Amino acid sequence: MRLSLSFSFLSLFVLAIKAQDRDLGVVKRAFEAADIPADLSLNFNPTALLEVTFPESDGNDITIHAGQQVPRDSTAGPPIYHAVGLRSSGPFVITMVDPDAPTPQMPTVAQERHFLGGDFHLDRTGRLTNSTAGIDEFLQPSPPAGSDAHRYIFMLWNQPRGFDQQTVVGADTPRGSFNVSEFARAVGLGEPIAGTFLFVAPNA
Ligand SMILES: *[C@@H]1O[C@H](CO)[C@@H](O)[C@H](O)[C@H]1NC(C)=O
Ligand SMILES: *[C@@H]1O[C@H](CO)[C@@H](O)[C@H](O)[C@H]1NC(C)=O
Repeated sequence: MRLSLSFSFLSLFVLAIKAQDRDLGVVKRAFEAADIPADLSLNFNPTALLEVTFPESDGNDITIHAGQQVPRDSTAGPPIYHAVGLRSSGPFVITMVDPDAPTPQMPTVAQERHFLGGDFHLDRTGRLTNSTAGIDEFLQPSPPAGSDAHRYIFMLWNQPRGFDQQTVVGADTPRGSFNVSEFARAVGLGEPIAGTFLFVAPNA
């Protein structure tokens, strides 16, 4: 009891100084307003905040709030992850998908998998770092010329035992025509526990 009380106190403190999104309800409503649960065929009832930061060469790193539009050239990554309000220190799986490839009007190769990796652990500073290589390297958002902005969706999942041995997706699995909820079901990820997303438009 005492432990969980002090843990949530700590979480609130970290929340106050760091998080761009501070309210799970705001994140959940942003996902719904952008039709993400329906388009990904999943339930999104976050119990923690996932904070995604894009490092920038000028030092003005961008920590997104759910639904923010970010210039394509600021999304080179790889992103840095923090979380607030997690009930364990891991391991966790992180996914990033684009359900709008090649265009939101005609997403014939969606979802495109931009990142899939496991063995993320929470450290004392609230940062999530992976102890093994991801299944994917991070793929920068690059919507084709003429397309409307795409949604790029990050989600955090509890990692089930045996995840490192899964063979559903490997380094050679094409990035396109991925289905994150089907993958989640196949490997036993359950539902996402946190998430955020950004919009990225093509360079003019
Ligand atoms: C974490 O994952 C990234 C992306 O796959 C990879 O480049 C990096 O080497 C991984 N870290 C470790 C310690 O394996
Ligand atoms: C993705 O998988 C889910 C669960 O199996 C399914 O309901 C949904 O129709 C699939 N989505 C697409 C676009 O195929």
